[in-house]
Amino acid sequence: MIEGFPGRAIRNILDIVRPTRILEIGTGIGYFTTSMARVIREYGAKIVTIEFDPIVAEQARKNFERADFSAMIEIVVGDVQEVVPQLKREIDFIFLDVDKRLYPKLLPQCVLLLRRGGVLAAEDSLFPVIDLDRKWHHLIPPIDEFNRCVCASPELRSTILPIGDGVTIAVKI
Ligand SMILES: C[S@@+](CC[C@H](N)C(=O)[O-])C[C@H]1O[C@@H](n2cnc3c(N)ncnc32)[C@H](O)[C@@H]1O
Repeated sequence: MIEGFPGRAIRNILDIVRPTRILEIGTGIGYFTTSMARVIREYGAKIVTIEFDPIVAEQARKNFERADFSAMIEIVVGDVQEVVPQLKREIDFIFLDVDKRLYPKLLPQCVLLLRRGGVLAAEDSLFPVIDLDRKWHHLIPPIDEFNRCVCASPELRSTILPIGDGVTIAVKI
């Protein structure tokens, strides 16, 4: 879950980019979906968000309804590994915040889905260098691989913001 400075930074990016087609990979109970929806509602953008746990997705749906955001947000209940390859391209902004082991596998698909000038934001990208509890150590190699692939991609210009547990910001060039 993203909150505090990472959330503020991403909301600033939304203000700058003004994306109309947004994809969130990993909904949870919709905390950050709602936060993004507050920024984009003034210009009529849409968010597609993916969650595979039906109970969690139902809670997110209720939260969107309660905040009166249901018309702006589509929840897709399914595994991102199956859903993401089926999505339409030319997405303006992708927020990647799912099982960290999937980051390297999802990266090429995110690049394919983004329009040129579109932005990928990925949560927790400083896992390899922060003081992480041992129980999360298995997540370090996939994040490390993800970071290396982002840096090496000729299609991305990127940085890692050292806020929260790290947020990668990558622009498709
Ligand atoms: C970190 S939480 C998302 C938090 C949310 N983005 C926020 O900031 O409020 C990650 C979510 O991804 C879901 N998830 C994990 N693996 C998934 C997969 N393979 N397909 C779809 N959802 C998955 C989990 O159930 C969890 O709710």
